[in-house]
Amino acid sequence: MRMVINGTEREVRSSADTPLLWVIRDEWGLTGTKYGCGIGVCGACTVHLDSAPLRSCAVPVGSLAGRHITTIEGLSPDGHHPVQRAWVAEDVPQCGYCQSGQIMSAAALLARHPRPTDRDIDAAMSGNLCRCGTYARIRRAIHRAGRDAPYAQSP
Ligand code: FES
Ligand code: FES
Repeated sequence: MRMVINGTEREVRSSADTPLLWVIRDEWGLTGTKYGCGIGVCGACTVHLDSAPLRSCAVPVGSLAGRHITTIEGLSPDGHHPVQRAWVAEDVPQCGYCQSGQIMSAAALLARHPRPTDRDIDAAMSGNLCRCGTYARIRRAIHRAGRDAPYAQSP
């Protein structure tokens, strides 16, 4: 089967029941997407299916034939997506492990709600856990991205 990953159509060689996360990391070498819980509850593996967030550890790749997936590597060509710029400006990450998933969820939220309220942010981001407790900075960065950008969706 084939799918579109970060704008490029690619062949999938893994079996249909392989979680998308392992195709992304092991078959395609895109290691920005992280493994945390493996059961869809921590958000470390978040990518976009079209422009909606998707927990890639919990979805068999065989269900995604022909679909468009965006990973953190494809969010912007140069790391200058509005959310990435806001993350730098607010100095969000600590260890960094959860952060690609946080950024992907934040970008999906802002594509739907360019000026989210705190409540919108809490609802959209509640499935992205951070053991370092960067939640306050994440919230500030999302507000900053909404303020600063004429909002750009992921491809
Ligand atoms: S690794 Fe996928 S949600 Fe935790
Ligand atoms: S920055 Fe360390 S887990 Fe979130």
